[in-house]
Amino acid sequence: MNTIGVAIIGCGGITLQNHLPGLALCQDVKVTALCDNNPATLEQARQQTGVSVTSTSYEEIVKRDDVQAVIIATPNVAHPPIAHAAIAAGKHVLSEKPLALNYADAKGMADAADQAGVRHMTAFTYRFVPAMRYLSHLIQQGEMGQPYHYRSCRLQDWGTRHLGWRQVKKLAGTGELGDMLSHRIDFAHHLLGPMKRLVANLKNLTPMRDGHPNDTEDWVAILADFRNGATGVLESSKLASGRNESWRSLDYVELNGSEGTFEFTTSKWNELIAGKVGGPGLKPIPVPKEFWTWPGSPRDPGVGDPLVTFRYDQAFEFIDAIRNGRPCNPSFHDGARSQQVMDAAVKSANEQRWIDLE
Ligand SMILES: NC(=O)c1ccc[n+]([C@@H]2O[C@H](COP(=O)([O-])OP(=O)(O)OC[C@H]3O[C@@H](n4cnc5c(N)ncnc54)[C@H](O)[C@@H]3O)[C@@H](O)[C@H]2O)c1
Repeated sequence: MNTIGVAIIGCGGITLQNHLPGLALCQDVKVTALCDNNPATLEQARQQTGVSVTSTSYEEIVKRDDVQAVIIATPNVAHPPIAHAAIAAGKHVLSEKPLALNYADAKGMADAADQAGVRHMTAFTYRFVPAMRYLSHLIQQGEMGQPYHYRSCRLQDWGTRHLGWRQVKKLAGTGELGDMLSHRIDFAHHLLGPMKRLVANLKNLTPMRDGHPNDTEDWVAILADFRNGATGVLESSKLASGRNESWRSLDYVELNGSEGTFEFTTSKWNELIAGKVGGPGLKPIPVPKEFWTWPGSPRDPGVGDPLVTFRYDQAFEFIDAIRNGRPCNPSFHDGARSQQVMDAAVKSANEQRWIDLE
């Protein structure tokens, strides 16, 4: 097999946590170049990885002949220009979410990648939780019947600490909406299809975080109608004090349909809670072993903390799609679709009314 050379643009938290360990599990893949516009972060990444080709300029890196694929892990504002530079150079692109600061830019990325014939992927990492994959499978098998309700709740305790670029609207676009709810909007699309209309509210309860101005929201809620007739209620907060963060805090999705109910919680990676219509109530159902890793992934689910390691399957999906010349799952189109809902949520909150989605 030919080795695929990957460049990483942005060497901060998520690159160290997800992308580098994920790529390390992929066969015949080499991280050939690193880029970060902060020289100190770049030097630290060079020392940690041993990757000798480094630059603070993404334009230089994406043009290199030893780079076939690019992973974008910068603050949100920089995703579109880096993606367009990589696509123009004929490189496959995996971009972090949210794809852009607005739908037009996100759609532009998807269209440009399609036109160039390169693979494109949005890092909706929680699609890779085994229980989410099993839930999607059961719904496709008709186990839920006619969908009635989608409900998601993401509650974390981020307190009032300084969040860096994440609390600056011109760099992040939005706060909790893009940070956390974008994933749960994607779940909703993935499980139930597109939304038809929504009404939303966004709230900034911390205009100063640790002495630094914050012009992004800490809390967001969306009430939605789906095109298939189901209803949606989605809530996400950084200020659920005492609930801790990450996978230790609540990340809950519930679906009710004519045949029954399914409940998914990220922290229970290999279990769903389910009940049949008219039955005695909800009970746990185990996720079968064939769902414990993404199809074809070389990852051993017995190695490491499964609440961390499911994320590594994302890199495998990107590389496998490149090798097989097939679309990535989820693609830039999924990222753009989530962005369209985010734009509508902001508009709804600003104008205090329902917004129809095309
Ligand atoms: N998929 C997930 O579950 C998940 C989780 C966390 C973060 N993210 C996303 O990943 C992205 C990065 O988040 P993070 O937590 O790693 O942030 P971070 O601040 O830790 O890292 C971002 C890095 O990008 C660098 N950078 C900024 N502008 C750049 C540019 N123009 N060129 C090159 N480098 C540049 C910064 O110096 C920094 O080192 C964001 O879009 C975020 O929403 C996704």
